[in-house]
Amino acid sequence: MDDLKAKYLGQIADAGEENALEAIRVAAVGKKGEVALKMRELGKMTPEERQVAGPALNALKDEINSALSAKKAALVDAALDERLRNEWLDVTLPTRARRQGSIHPVSQATEELTAIFAELGFSVAEGPRIETDWHNFDALNIPSHHPARAEMDTFYMHRAEGDNRPPHVLRTHTSPVQIRSMEKQGAPIRIICPGGVYRADYDQTHTPMFHQVEGLAIDKDISMANLKWVLEEFVKAFFEVDDVELRFRASHFPFTEPSAEVDIRCSWDNGQLKIGEGDDWMEILGSGMVHPKVIAAGGIDPDVYQGFAFGIGIDRLAMLKYGIPDLRAFFDSDLRWLRHYGFAALDMPNLHGGLSR
Ligand code: PHE
Repeated sequence: MDDLKAKYLGQIADAGEENALEAIRVAAVGKKGEVALKMRELGKMTPEERQVAGPALNALKDEINSALSAKKAALVDAALDERLRNEWLDVTLPTRARRQGSIHPVSQATEELTAIFAELGFSVAEGPRIETDWHNFDALNIPSHHPARAEMDTFYMHRAEGDNRPPHVLRTHTSPVQIRSMEKQGAPIRIICPGGVYRADYDQTHTPMFHQVEGLAIDKDISMANLKWVLEEFVKAFFEVDDVELRFRASHFPFTEPSAEVDIRCSWDNGQLKIGEGDDWMEILGSGMVHPKVIAAGGIDPDVYQGFAFGIGIDRLAMLKYGIPDLRAFFDSDLRWLRHYGFAALDMPNLHGGLSR
């Protein structure tokens, strides 16, 4: 019995992990363990022998069991200590420099113009950037082979081999949303649609992706005078001035008749872009009375309804309002530029609070 005790207490002391302890427990005090086998021998003993051996075996069993649980507790403690040592963290280290996001000038300008048009009764509509050829061109009275298609520097989507349908395009303007809105809601309509558009073009005032806001008003009694008033009110509110010098130029778009382009007076002196002064003009929008064919393509009767539409360059508006001379920098993602021209994230523009606080 002394041998058994020495053997198992020694093994327990040497055990390095819980699995090993369990194997020792089974071999020593399990149902078929050595102590149980010894207990079976009690039956063959004389009553006197049994009186001595019985309690001694029970004591041995208890002793092994308590050594096992003491060792188990010690192993658990050691494992926890080890983990705490590994997961140690110096909470006194200095934090990283605060990184604060900002609102991009295009997002800011979009929020501002949305607030202004909301006051004028226009709600926001949206359409896909990957557009069908029909919505981007045909429905807007730009049939295939029309020179306007070539002028737009369109990006065409890849077409699977053998597919002879016209390819989808990256929308070259927000005007397809005119058609989608007419299809969806019928007349009357008063919507704007701000969003990204694409053309293969790149210089100081052109980037392959840029932003427009389309406007569309359709009703039974709409004239060019309404268009002019809405645009003037919008421009004054956006630039936060009482008077802005606008130039309405007769123009041509296949989807409006008559059509006008609108320029705003500005100067580009010493790399500084300023609005309302100087001898330069920057074109900011195209507009006109919606062509009857376009109204019909949208599923509305052009003999009953007419309307005006406009498409404003949002990036150009932002350049003018915030004095940013190069459009390309808008999309370079240069953090220094974003910190300089960005806006505080929680200052949402609205007309009573002020637009560009
Ligand atoms: N879609 C035209 C463009 O991108 C702008 C426009 C919109 C003109 C609506 C007239 C009416 O140049």
